[in-house]
This record gives sequence, C-alpha cells and structure tokens, in this order.
Amino acid sequence: MSQEKELTFSEAIEKAQQSIVRFPLIPIRGIPLMSYIAQNFDSIWAFRPDPSDLLIATYPKAGTTWTQEIVDLLLHNGDAEACKRAPTPVRSPFLEICSPPPIPSGLDLLRKMDPPRVIKTHFPFQLVPPGFWENKCKTIYVARNAKDNMVSYFHFDCMNKTQPEPGPWEGYIHKFMQGELSWGSWYDHVKGWWAEREKRNILYLFYEDMKENPRREVERIMRYLDLSLPDDVISRIVELTSFKSMKENPMANYSCVPKPVFDQSISPFMRKGEVGDWTNHFTAEQSKVFDEDYEKQMKGTDIPFRTQI
Ligand code: A3P
Repeated sequence: MSQEKELTFSEAIEKAQQSIVRFPLIPIRGIPLMSYIAQNFDSIWAFRPDPSDLLIATYPKAGTTWTQEIVDLLLHNGDAEACKRAPTPVRSPFLEICSPPPIPSGLDLLRKMDPPRVIKTHFPFQLVPPGFWENKCKTIYVARNAKDNMVSYFHFDCMNKTQPEPGPWEGYIHKFMQGELSWGSWYDHVKGWWAEREKRNILYLFYEDMKENPRREVERIMRYLDLSLPDDVISRIVELTSFKSMKENPMANYSCVPKPVFDQSISPFMRKGEVGDWTNHFTAEQSKVFDEDYEKQMKGTDIPFRTQI
C-alpha cells in the first residue's frame, strides 16, 4: 500500500494556490473576519487549550512574529538551530486561521502538537475561546501605535492575496478608523485587551518599547514565563530577534508562503520594522483628521501609546 507523503506547509500552500483569492469579510459578533475563519468560528470557539499553552495576541501587524520568535528562543534557551526547525506559523500556530485545503488550519496544526504550545491570535478579547481563561493560560498582548500599525497593515494588504484589496491609501485610512479591516477596529482591540490585562494576568507590551530597549522587553517576557536565563543567552536572543536577523531568517521571514499568496516583491513581510514610519505616509491634513478622530475613539483611556521614540 502506498503511503502518501505529508506535505510541508509551503507545499500545501503551493497546492492550494488556485483557490487563493482575496476572501470577503463576514462579520462574527460584529467583527469582520475572513470568510474561511467566519465559517469555522464555532470550532475555533470550542478549542480547549492546555493550561500550559501560551497565547500571543495582537492586532494584525503589531509585532506578532517578533514576539513569537522571542518566546520560541526563550523556551529553547536561545538555541538558534532549534528555532529553525520549522517556519513561524508551524512552530507557533495561528489559532483562527483557516484556508483552502490542503493548507492546514491553525486547529489542524495545534492538534498535532503536544502542549505547551505557543498560540497566535488576532482576535479581539471577546472572540478568544473561553477555554483560555478557564484554564488560566498565560497571555502576551502586543500593541503598536495606531499610525504605524495602519501603515504596516496597508503594505501587508497590498502583498497578501488573501486579504481584501486595500484600495488607495486615503480610503484605507477611513476603513481603519471605521474598523472595517479584517479583525475589526484597532481602537476596540487595544482597549478591550487593556481592560482585561490585570484580571487575566495578561502581559501587555508595546512595539515601541521593544524597539527602544529590546533587552528590557525580552527580560520582561522571560520573567513572565518564569524563566531565568544567563546574560549571554539573553544577549544572543536579542541579537537573533533583531529586525536584520529576522529578515534574513527563512524560518521567520515568511518566505515559507509562496509568491502567489504573499508577494514579497510588492512589500516584504519584514518591511521596515521602525517606529515613526507613519510620517512618510500621512499628509499633514490626513494626520489632523486622524488625530481628531483618535481623540474621540480613545477618550477616557490611559494606554501609553507613543508614535515616536
Ligand atoms: P513594518 O511593516 O512596519 O515593517 P506582525 O508580525 O504582527 O505581522 O507584524 C509585522 C510588523 O512587525 C512589520 O512591520 C515587521 O517588519 C515588524 N517586525 C517583524 N520582526 C521585527 C523585528 N525583529 N524588529 C522590529 N520589527 C519587526
């Protein structure tokens, strides 16, 4: 009897290429989600993590991959080779992602792994399966200032052929402000997770802090994970997770996703990795309109965002 060889992640995507389109968004509890995710929401909601699993939650493009790499290295004592065992989405599955077969869904990958697992999500707090809170899973949330986050998302939507067409930049700003992009409103996302951070023992980090002092933030994550690594290992992890190192690392730079899906000639996944790139995109008038709206949407919150460091 011939045994079918299991496809690698990249091979599965290659095979599904013809079915890749810019999927429409369908609202689930008011949050616009890629149709594949929306159609499978019930099974995602029913997912039961193990208490030892770690959740990394972000609004898209806030520094998810960076944090996944830091965590994987911390859990592997800074062993670079161990962390090259597979590309990011296989080492640290994306909870809600569902794509045309034979691409494995996040749940498919998780089923094949033994806990403790490092699980990524872009869900706003209220869509996270309740099992995470019932089992008191540790959770790291990473937030990035709205303007840089949106710039990064815009470039990503240009190159990621599964996301809705971004359209022109001017219109994109309005879609962002109105919460019409995949995974919904940035404002509600960062506020929702902020409100829960103490009750759920969530480590709430900022992309800008990670850029400003990566070592300090790596150590913060290390302590949250109840680890204690020697100074030289921490230094190695900081180096291995620099923007330059990750851009050159085929297991971290999403070169595992073939060009018809992620066209990195349009915009590389590891694009700029900076704070303040928004100044190269917003006109003075766009910035004014955005800031006025921001004041309204963020009124009464005290989340310490920085648009420059
Ligand atoms: P830019 O598009 O601004 O460059 P996510 O992983 O959540 O999709 O976020 C991607 C963003 O994080 C991209 O931002 C990417 O360049 C940036 N990024 C990834 N790794 C990084 C690192 N090691 N240091 C700084 N930024 C990083």
